[in-house]
Amino acid sequence: MAVLAIYPGSFDPVTYGHLDIIERAQQIFDQLTVAVLVNVEKNALFSLEERMEMLRESTRQWSHVTIDSFHGLLVEYALRRNARVILRGIRAVSDYEYEFQMALMNRRLQPRIETVFMMPAEAYSFLSSRLVKEVCGLGGDVSEFVPPQVAERLKRKLS
Ligand code: PNS
Repeated sequence: MAVLAIYPGSFDPVTYGHLDIIERAQQIFDQLTVAVLVNVEKNALFSLEERMEMLRESTRQWSHVTIDSFHGLLVEYALRRNARVILRGIRAVSDYEYEFQMALMNRRLQPRIETVFMMPAEAYSFLSSRLVKEVCGLGGDVSEFVPPQVAERLKRKLS
């Protein structure tokens, strides 16, 4: 049976760290859906549609990758989509505790769905959307951290 993995997150905005994980995962899973969480929109810099658009622009070279959004419980969404796997990236030990808690809670809620962790290339182990926004907002160059069209949108939003 074809395995669909869901890669959930806020993606506010997508970074090269996320894209590194997506590139690795699309080689392993039959289908990969990047699922953007809807209800963080109030404190997000980018709207849901903008976040999805940036993801679409940055992933169009991978034919097994689709972009979607979800609200409510992640495991309910994964179940509706018939997904077997929730994919999460782990950058450093500091990510582990939160991810471990979420994975075990999700397993308790829905034992059929397995959380799989992947590590991005170490060059991205310090990278987060939050820091990219901070650096860009203070006039720093973020071209090493996000695709050109994302850097452009960040500059427009934050200048
Ligand atoms: O990119 P993020 O913000 O670290 O992603 C967090 C996300 C979206 C994976 C997490 O907040 C989530 O799954 N939210 C949906 C609500 C839910 O299912 N909560 C229970 C998690 S145990």
